[in-house]
Amino acid sequence: MLILEKNTLTEEIEGYVKKYGNDRSALLPILQAVQREHNYVSDFAQQEIARMLDIHPVEVFSVISFYSFLNSEPKGKNIVRLCRTIICDISGKDAVENAICRELKIKFGETTKDKKITLEYTNCLGMCDQGPAMMVNNKVYTKLTPERAVEILKNIKS
Ligand code: FES
Repeated sequence: MLILEKNTLTEEIEGYVKKYGNDRSALLPILQAVQREHNYVSDFAQQEIARMLDIHPVEVFSVISFYSFLNSEPKGKNIVRLCRTIICDISGKDAVENAICRELKIKFGETTKDKKITLEYTNCLGMCDQGPAMMVNNKVYTKLTPERAVEILKNIKS
């Protein structure tokens, strides 16, 4: 079964290499495609991409580490990113954070057991005048209160 999954992933990546090319400039679009499809880029996928682009796996991993939208570990279906930069911090981020953690029964950096939600911190989202701010997948929420943050999470869970 695992071998079958690996063959399928190899074929999938071969398809991306055909589409985007096999030079260094293809690395990011290929990683984005794998991320879109699987929600993360596994060790095996990283090795295969490195092999097909003829680059070192460390180079693949360093690109994944650089971009916050790429993950090397499996994450939840929804990523909740709470801004921890100073303006949001003094606008009530801690109260929002505590309410979120209480509601989901996990800490930031963790994923719910049902794999629905991963909590992460982020730096400034550019909405400093409307903090505290958080991003759920690609949508930004501003002027959060603990109650509103919990309501947003309940909508995601349902
Ligand atoms: Fe939070 Fe800028 S400090 S959005």
